[in-house]
Amino acid sequence: MPIPDFSHELARLDEAGLRRHRRVLESAQGVHVTAEGREWLSFCSNDYLGLAAHPALANAAAEAARNHGVGSGASALVSGHHRLHQRLEERLHAFMGRPCLLLGGGFPANTGILPALVGREDAIFADKLVHASLLDGAQLSRAQVRRFHHNDIGHLENLLRTTKARRKLIVVDGVFSMDGDIAPLPELLRLAETHDAWLYVDDAHGFGVLGANGRGTPEHFGLASPRIIHLCTLGKAAGAMGAALFAEQSVVDWLLHSARSYVFSTAPPPLLAAALLAAVDLIEQDAWRREHLQQLIARLRQGAADLPWKLLPSETPIQPLMVGDNKAAVHLAEALRERGIWVPAIRPPTVPKGTARLRLSLSAAHSMEDMERLLRALHEVAGEGKS
Ligand SMILES: Cc1ncc(COP(=O)(O)O)c(C=O)c1O
Repeated sequence: MPIPDFSHELARLDEAGLRRHRRVLESAQGVHVTAEGREWLSFCSNDYLGLAAHPALANAAAEAARNHGVGSGASALVSGHHRLHQRLEERLHAFMGRPCLLLGGGFPANTGILPALVGREDAIFADKLVHASLLDGAQLSRAQVRRFHHNDIGHLENLLRTTKARRKLIVVDGVFSMDGDIAPLPELLRLAETHDAWLYVDDAHGFGVLGANGRGTPEHFGLASPRIIHLCTLGKAAGAMGAALFAEQSVVDWLLHSARSYVFSTAPPPLLAAALLAAVDLIEQDAWRREHLQQLIARLRQGAADLPWKLLPSETPIQPLMVGDNKAAVHLAEALRERGIWVPAIRPPTVPKGTARLRLSLSAAHSMEDMERLLRALHEVAGEGKS
């Protein structure tokens, strides 16, 4: 009997041009990185504030490693909850003004929390474009899952009006990861209040970036409500890894007992909490990082206006350049690559068919000169297409 393998599936990926290869990074994460023996100007990472290689985070992590070792050794409920984790939760509580639970990452947070909030008699109402981890969490919960058209309040309202579910959970990304647009939280919250639902906001791409103080999408809209369950991931603007859940104290206490990815998983290393304590200080103090990002976004949108490819409407550091055809998107990414610029081409199934795009991701660490270089390269490639 042959041993089962995946050679046919892999061959199919090869044929469809969908086989993925990882480029090995040889430098620290940043906007100027080394990979494959050469330097790249990168518009790839979610390190929106330029903190992933910041010395304050690296030094804090190194000192914590020297003092407290590397591993946490157990789940938080056994013996893995270190003084540094406790300090970080308290610091985040003070920063965000809400009780906090620290988890190992955004993906395990969503797959652990959703099933702890709702079950068989309940319903989840999820935007069509929410992140994969939320869909997996929704499946695991066994609640009925209804999807509404992207940012379509009318459609959501219809679904809420007809449900007989016991508990109702509206689920959105604060900032949508592949489109860069912002969920209409005020309207969503109004619906949550009218229909007695919770509003779960996955703010992976909003935390640190949106709001005058970087508190994310609710701050961007000036919103606060006990109905909002706010999940912030810490591997993007916060520059490290992990996730922080902000909610009412009873919700946090319940999740501590019942989110399976929290209860049954080793706690993050204390050194990570030390790095994140430094990150929260920088998020709070360095408003210039958010201001500089806004300047970069404005320059990109102005400079790209006459390109043959259009930027999707977005006021966040995620600036998708819509190409449409898969091969054309890969070709554009290749042409930039020849010019030493690294931008990912995003194709189905990550995005809907016919909407392949370059996902330009901006960072406060980009200089205006970096932006001019990108714009020059895009215009050059556009010019080649015409001739
Ligand atoms: C919207 C959203 N939620 C959750 C995640 C997963 O977070 P993490 O990378 O911390 O596991 C991501 C990651 O890309 C994301 O974009």
